[in-house]
Amino acid sequence: SAKGLKDYYAAYFPIGVAVNPRMMQNGPESALILAQFSSMTPENAMKMGPIHPEENRYNWKDADAIVQFAQQHGLKVRGHTLCWHNQIPPWLFVDSTGKQVSRDVLLARLKQHISAVVGRYKGKIYAWDVVNEAVPDGGDALYRPTKFYEIIGEDYLEKAFQYAHEADPAALLFYNDYNTENTVKRERIYQLVKKLKDKGVPIHGVGLQGHWSIHEPTAQQLDESITRFAGLGLTVQITELDVSIHAKQHERQEAAATAKSEFTNELNDRQAAHYAMLFKVFRKHRDKLSGVTFWNLSDKSSWLDNFPVKGRKDYPLLFDQNYQPKKAYSAVVNF
Ligand code: G3I
Repeated sequence: SAKGLKDYYAAYFPIGVAVNPRMMQNGPESALILAQFSSMTPENAMKMGPIHPEENRYNWKDADAIVQFAQQHGLKVRGHTLCWHNQIPPWLFVDSTGKQVSRDVLLARLKQHISAVVGRYKGKIYAWDVVNEAVPDGGDALYRPTKFYEIIGEDYLEKAFQYAHEADPAALLFYNDYNTENTVKRERIYQLVKKLKDKGVPIHGVGLQGHWSIHEPTAQQLDESITRFAGLGLTVQITELDVSIHAKQHERQEAAATAKSEFTNELNDRQAAHYAMLFKVFRKHRDKLSGVTFWNLSDKSSWLDNFPVKGRKDYPLLFDQNYQPKKAYSAVVNF
């Protein structure tokens, strides 16, 4: 039938997909996007390194192409991401002599960057991942010791949200992170976001990335995460969903050496059952959940190919390497 994911879920939440600009030029891929999805997130094109490679030069080409495609076809766009410690351009933290910049200089640069990027797409991007992954996985600290944190201090987060809000007051602003079902990390993220909320910082949502596997999370863990963050009076989105066939996220490194990468019938069934469970929980929380975005389009190419093991393939999405719906697709739409 002509029905796609977006149609089955029209009464629930937008269904999104992470994209790169090459997909807009690729017939089968752009057709699949249009048939199935109602929202897009640029996988890399709006990150600071790609979009702002030199202090006085922006590279708008890829991001523009994605936003233009979305506008033309009536899809929503989530912006990703304004302040992250990865994919950083080499100039950001140093002056022309290579010396680390001061707090004031870095704040000015952050403001310039956020104003320019958010301002360019004002009214065209409905939600932004403003700060990404600011909380560490282990240790005792609340803040990940990034350059932003070291040079500016903990208020870099509220500044980033303020700059984004000034540039587009109508955009929904998110804090986005992974491993949100780990109770220790979940509570840290909760504390961090609560601090922002209590201070009156313009933050509207929490993004649960959703880089999961067939072994995680449980329905209860997911239920607890969504409920906990929504309890702050914020909307919740699943921003980077995929279900790896390999070991649990935090065990993947250790299990990597022995893991096979064949997509057997058994794995196909287990993955379908896992996706069915996840979407059942998502639907239950439709009042708290305002979007679900998949991280990549099909098993033809995923960031999980080669991660964390070079040469190892993964099969984490709803469409196979020939763009055909898998068992997991049926599991998600037959409810
Ligand atoms: O664009 C360059 C290309 O010019 C160069 O020739 C090539 C050689 O390695 O690299 C290309 O850049 C790569 C880029 O993806 C585009 O393909 C980078 O090396 C590679 O590191 C980058 O990986 C991205 C990763 O974030 C970076 O940390 C993945 O595509 C992207 O899916 C992934 O997404 C992140 C989210 O933003 C945040 N949450 C976790 C998620 C998964 O890691």
